[in-house]
Amino acid sequence: MQSYTIVTGASCGIGYEIAQLFAKDKNNLILVARNEEKLNEIKKDFEQKYKINVIVIRLDLSVDNDVDYLYEYVEKNKIVVDNLINNAGIGNFGEFYKADCTKDLDMIKLNVYSLTKLMKLFLPNMIKRNKGGILNVASTAAFGVGPMMSVYYATKSYVLSLTESVSAEVKGTNVKIAAICPGPVDTGFQGKAGVKKAKIAKGYMMKADEVARDAYKKYNKGKTIIIPGYKNKVLVQSFRFLPRKVIGMAALRLNK
Ligand SMILES: NC(=O)c1ccc[n+]([C@@H]2O[C@H](COP(=O)([O-])OP(=O)(O)OC[C@H]3O[C@@H](n4cnc5c(N)ncnc54)[C@H](OP(=O)(O)O)[C@@H]3O)[C@@H](O)[C@H]2O)c1
Repeated sequence: MQSYTIVTGASCGIGYEIAQLFAKDKNNLILVARNEEKLNEIKKDFEQKYKINVIVIRLDLSVDNDVDYLYEYVEKNKIVVDNLINNAGIGNFGEFYKADCTKDLDMIKLNVYSLTKLMKLFLPNMIKRNKGGILNVASTAAFGVGPMMSVYYATKSYVLSLTESVSAEVKGTNVKIAAICPGPVDTGFQGKAGVKKAKIAKGYMMKADEVARDAYKKYNKGKTIIIPGYKNKVLVQSFRFLPRKVIGMAALRLNK
């Protein structure tokens, strides 16, 4: 039986960078996203450079059957999943009452429903083997209040809360459950989410490879909540002291 690390949303951005770090350390990979062509290019590159096995599975994780397919594939091929990196995610910018309803609901399916289902499917075997781990990609948004991106912020708060709770449940085992909470990262995410005005983003913007390196190092050390970058750590600390109403008003002024 061969061991693999699953990375969702591995076709670009943070997921691609995290996948590369696992590859460098000789972990076989299952790469998941919708852009199969891109995933196949990455497979070719990683297999040549790092002498590992890479399996590409084209899936739309906002579709329930696709989530099931991933688990069925792993079971059918007797694959051991060492790490599950729940990275695939989207955002949607705009006032709640105006933002496209289908896009918001698809976001919940991807950021919340499929992430939860993948944890439910893969965690029991990790517990049985007393080995492995799950790294969920949340955001500093998880700690805040997000007018103009209300559904996105809510999905990331869910991811953080779920991660902290499940991490507490598995304490005492060798299974790691962690969440990485980046601030703004220079990927295609903001553009795809339709973020128009992100004045705060410039000073806080990090590169995807920096974020991935921090996530990889601290996940391997067993840290539960990983906040990359000094400025993001300060921001999150300030959220602990400021009234949530004040945070919400400040975010609204920046974004509207
Ligand atoms: N960039 C930021 O500012 C930022 C900040 C904090 C947290 N995050 C979080 O970081 C994670 C990665 O985002 P990123 O910045 O790297 O954005 P990105 O460059 O847009 O990458 C998103 C990845 O998710 C995949 N994806 C999107 N919809 C999918 C679907 N329905 N099914 C399967 N895969 C799907 C995309 O691949 P395909 O399009 O090929 O499917 C892509 O590989 C997300 O969870 C995001 O919320 C981002």
